Amino acid sequence: MKKILCVNYSQSGQLDEILDNFLSPLEGCEIDRIKVEPNKDFPFPWKTNSFYDAMPETVLEEPIELEPFSFKEEHYDLIIFGYQPWFLSPSMPATALLKNREFKKRLNNTPVITVIGARNMWLNSQKSVVKHVQDAGGKIVGNIPLVDRAQNLLSAVSIVHWMMTGTKTRKWGIFPLPGVSQEDIEGCSRYGGLLNDRLKNNELSTYQDAVLANDGLRINTSILFIEERAKKIFYIWANIIKKKEAKGKNRAFWISFFRFYLNFALFGVAPIILTIYTVLIRPLTLNSLKRKKEHLSYLGIDRSK
Ligand SMILES: Cc1cc2nc3c(=O)[nH]c(=O)nc-3n(C[C@H](O)[C@H](O)[C@H](O)COP(=O)(O)O)c2cc1C
Repeated sequence: MKKILCVNYSQSGQLDEILDNFLSPLEGCEIDRIKVEPNKDFPFPWKTNSFYDAMPETVLEEPIELEPFSFKEEHYDLIIFGYQPWFLSPSMPATALLKNREFKKRLNNTPVITVIGARNMWLNSQKSVVKHVQDAGGKIVGNIPLVDRAQNLLSAVSIVHWMMTGTKTRKWGIFPLPGVSQEDIEGCSRYGGLLNDRLKNNELSTYQDAVLANDGLRINTSILFIEERAKKIFYIWANIIKKKEAKGKNRAFWISFFRFYLNFALFGVAPIILTIYTVLIRPLTLNSLKRKKEHLSYLGIDRSK
């Protein structure tokens, strides 16, 4: 009987529901299902200040304390690691898990599937997760990122509404519903079914091919363009804020400044730059874009087998 570890944190319960659906088709496996909680929980619903205040430590991947938890097994046949990106990085509880000594021991020499419940920007966080997993000796064999399919700016407005009110409803009754759609949450069982077949036949090396063939991962060109630039800027902001704080400067002031910058960049600057990129540059780079997307669809996955 295969021993599987499925571990995640979820603030609203969205990622829990995604993983429950993912796991539902698995037959004849022993599943150790662990939901981690931070020792000091993050507010939900968030307040505007606390939301942006989480940025520096998230981006710099400073580990937080988790509530005590324990694994049933010393070694698993497969680890399913569910996480959500925060500020283009793994969320703080996810980072804490990736840096946990006991978890790292279980990652060593073990196949890992990542299941992501994001708004729509998961590429940078996945690069980081892949590195942590590989540094611990784990082998990424699959990645299923579930995202909000609404247009980027609309989904940015609706997710803030969700995070600030704690309710997954339409802002003013007119914006799209925030987060991963109920259809995609429930449809995630499809990828569990594909896994079930491959577990039986010991064919995990073909799992990501099956995920891609079943529409399990999409990379939007505009989002890719933003993600390629934004993380570097987040690092600069995170370091500036930490340095100012260390010098006794008012952290709250610098966080408000970052908040202003982020909203200006997202709603003011990005649409103009993206229009110029889409019209003038993108048509000249179609081949390299295709290669980049192919590479990102298999990030960290060994395709030589
Ligand atoms: C502080 C914070 C920052 C976030 N940053 C991102 C991000 O950079 N990219 C993204 O796709 N989603 C982002 N999200 C959305 C989360 O990835 C996630 O989809 C949402 O919080 C629901 O997850 P849950 O299952 O923990 O409730 C952010 C959410 C929070 C609370």
